[in-house]
Amino acid sequence: MKKFGISVRSIEYLIGIFATLCLSLVVFIYAAQEPLRIALAQEAQMYADLDDAMTLYAENCVVCHGLSGEGIGSTPALNNIAIRSYDYDALYKIVERGLYSTAMPAWSLNDGGPLSEYQINELVTLIQFGNWNETQDRVVNLGLAPLVPFTSDPDPSILESIQSLDGNDLLVRGVRIYAVECVACHGPDGLGTSFAPPLNDPIILTTSKDELRRVILNGVSGTLMAPWRNRFNDEDINSLITLLTSWDTVPVGVIPAPEQAIVVTEESLELGSELYTRNCARCHGPEGQGTQRAPSLNVKGFLVDNTDAAMQQIITLGVPGTSMPAWVDRMTEVEIQAIVGYIRAWEASAPEVAEPARGGGRWWQPDGSAPQGGGSGGGPPWMRNANENLQWNVPFPGGDSNLKIHSQSDRTDR
Ligand code: HEC
Ligand code: HEC
Ligand code: HEC
Repeated sequence: MKKFGISVRSIEYLIGIFATLCLSLVVFIYAAQEPLRIALAQEAQMYADLDDAMTLYAENCVVCHGLSGEGIGSTPALNNIAIRSYDYDALYKIVERGLYSTAMPAWSLNDGGPLSEYQINELVTLIQFGNWNETQDRVVNLGLAPLVPFTSDPDPSILESIQSLDGNDLLVRGVRIYAVECVACHGPDGLGTSFAPPLNDPIILTTSKDELRRVILNGVSGTLMAPWRNRFNDEDINSLITLLTSWDTVPVGVIPAPEQAIVVTEESLELGSELYTRNCARCHGPEGQGTQRAPSLNVKGFLVDNTDAAMQQIITLGVPGTSMPAWVDRMTEVEIQAIVGYIRAWEASAPEVAEPARGGGRWWQPDGSAPQGGGSGGGPPWMRNANENLQWNVPFPGGDSNLKIHSQSDRTDR
């Protein structure tokens, strides 16, 4: 069968070679790409792990190691180069088992902690490769930012007056240390926070000085109260004990609440803007310029005079006897903080003198819609109920917001 000069057999043979070539080419291309594919997959996996880890950090570590790993009080920072260069296994072991006789708890399920091996691995990845600015944003967006910052400045004139009493150096020193190391948890003037009990309290006076010394030196295992043994010398400890046992001689206000600048992120500013527009604009003006009904907020004087904490307080509690409502039952603390952050952002461009808006229409009908709440008109509902609880007929953010926000309303530290 050599009709065309080529035998069927050789055609089959050529096809066979061709197919083999094709196949090997495919295999070759695939093999050549494999390392790249693996690298890409590994990278994607690492980003996913880092993403999880930031949430784990916010939920578990932020209270002690700080908003962006900067460390708080006696707790070390995690956001430094030194710790990035630690051996993976060493870091894993610290997080897994904790550091014995320190405040650093064990986190592994095996050691009675809440975290799986994989989650611990993710946290170690965060410590070694993570981005702490992003982590800070995550913490804030989850509403898990520690509410108190960590130091405050004692009022110098009051300090001087204590000192002049009878050369009360030890007490003054105690106040100074307290303002740096303890105020974050035990609160301004020792009055306690949601993190830690009051120290300016009769119970402390029933505790012996030896017991107080023991607690400060050794901490209370399994709680946020860290041991301060390595941090303080005898005189520091004595000065703290002097303070703890003589609060009654310390004037109120000597250790103020720390100045807290509320941390903002793009998301929190957006949330603040939305909440402001929905709830505040109709009285305070769309850009905070004020109206006939409520004072301007977007004006230098107000913004310079009021700290974030003060503003948060005003919004939370309202101004009794005026139409400024208390927002405490309608918004979470996080939402109020988002509004404060949003208002604060006006400061840079705020005018010296505000020009109140003169809107048309009845301001208590936000959309120009029919009066809500079945009233017969004649004014906003709360005006008809002067001095009673405000009747609020506008939808509240807590109810219909689909943003998932951690509620901090159980915290009482302000
Ligand atoms: C209750 C407070 C507390 C919490 C919560 C906490 N830590 Fe710690 N952590 C500490 C203290 C205190 C130390 C330092 C202990 C020592 O060496 O004295 C520490 C040390 C560490 C160290 C070693 C730092 C170094 O410089 O050697 C790492 C890593 C660490 N923590 C990671 C974490 C991670 C991850 C979490 C969250 C899963 C976490 N910690 C939660 C208190 C805490
Ligand atoms: C990170 C938070 C935190 C910091 C910072 C902190 N403490 Fe504490 N402290 C606590 C907690 C929580 C407790 C309660 C422990 C418990 O449940 O027994 C406590 C308990 C105490 C007690 C025992 C109170 C009692 O009623 O028995 C003393 C005393 C004390 N702390 C002193 C201090 C001093 C002094 C400082 C500053 C050098 C300080 N603490 C810093 C969290 C903290
Ligand atoms: C029903 C009208 C009304 C609404 C709505 C309202 N406010 Fe007010 N607000 C007032 C009035 C009136 C005052 C002035 C109270 C006074 O006389 O001290 C005030 C005062 C304030 C102050 C203190 C201003 C100063 O100069 O001391 C702040 C801050 C503030 N409001 C924020 C807000 C925020 C934020 C919202 C929205 C969550 C809001 N207000 C919603 C009426 C309102």
